[in-house]
Amino acid sequence: MRNLRILIIFLLIEAAAASVIGIMIVYLGIFNVSALWNDPLPVYNLFKAVRTHSIERHARNVTIPKYINFQDPTLIRSGFNIYVRSCMICHAGPGLKPSNFVREGLYPKPPKFSKTANLQLDPQKLFWVIKNGIRMTGMPAWGPSKTDNQIWALVAFLNNISHDDQASQPPNNK
Ligand code: HEC
Repeated sequence: MRNLRILIIFLLIEAAAASVIGIMIVYLGIFNVSALWNDPLPVYNLFKAVRTHSIERHARNVTIPKYINFQDPTLIRSGFNIYVRSCMICHAGPGLKPSNFVREGLYPKPPKFSKTANLQLDPQKLFWVIKNGIRMTGMPAWGPSKTDNQIWALVAFLNNISHDDQASQPPNNK
C-alpha cells in the first residue's frame, strides 16, 4: 500500500516535470525552427518512418486508369514539360548547378531525380505524393492546381527516370 502511494507520487512528479519542460520548449523559444538545423538522427528516422508508412497506406486507394500507358512518349514529354515549370525549382535536374535551386535551403531536402538508379516509389505512391504533398516538408500538394491527367503525366515522366538519392537527406548529408 505504502509502495503504491510512493509510486503514484513519483508518477505525478514525473508528469509535472514533463509538463514544465513541454511548456518551456513551447514558450521560451528553445526549439530551433531554423531550416538550417538538422534533426538528430533518431528524430529524423522517426519522421521518415511515419512518412513512409503513411504514403504506403494511403496510396493503396489509388487506381491507375486503364487508358494510362507509362511508356507513351507524348505522356512522358508532357510530364517533362510540367516538371520543368513546377518541380525543377526544388528537385533540380541532372547536370544543373545546385546554387540555382530552392532545394539547397530546404530541410528535409527534396530528392534529386536522375537516371542512375531505380525509383523507390511505385506509380500509385508517386501519384498520391504529388496530389497530396507531404505535410511539414516543402513538398506542396498539386491536387488543387493540376488535373489527375497532368499528375499521371508527371508519374510517367518520373517513372522513366530514377532517383539517385533518398527521399530526404539524413542530417548533414548534402
Ligand atoms: C517547394 C519545393 C518543392 C516543389 C516545387 C516540389 N517539391 Fe516534391 N518534394 C519537396 C520536398 C522537400 C520533398 C521531400 C519530402 C520528404 O522528405 O518527406 C519532396 C518529395 C517529393 C516526392 C517524394 C519522393 C520520395 O522518394 O519520397 C515526389 C515524388 C515529389 N516530391 C514530386 C514532385 C513533383 C512531381 C513536383 C512538381 C509538380 C514537386 N515535387 C515539386 C519539395 C518540392
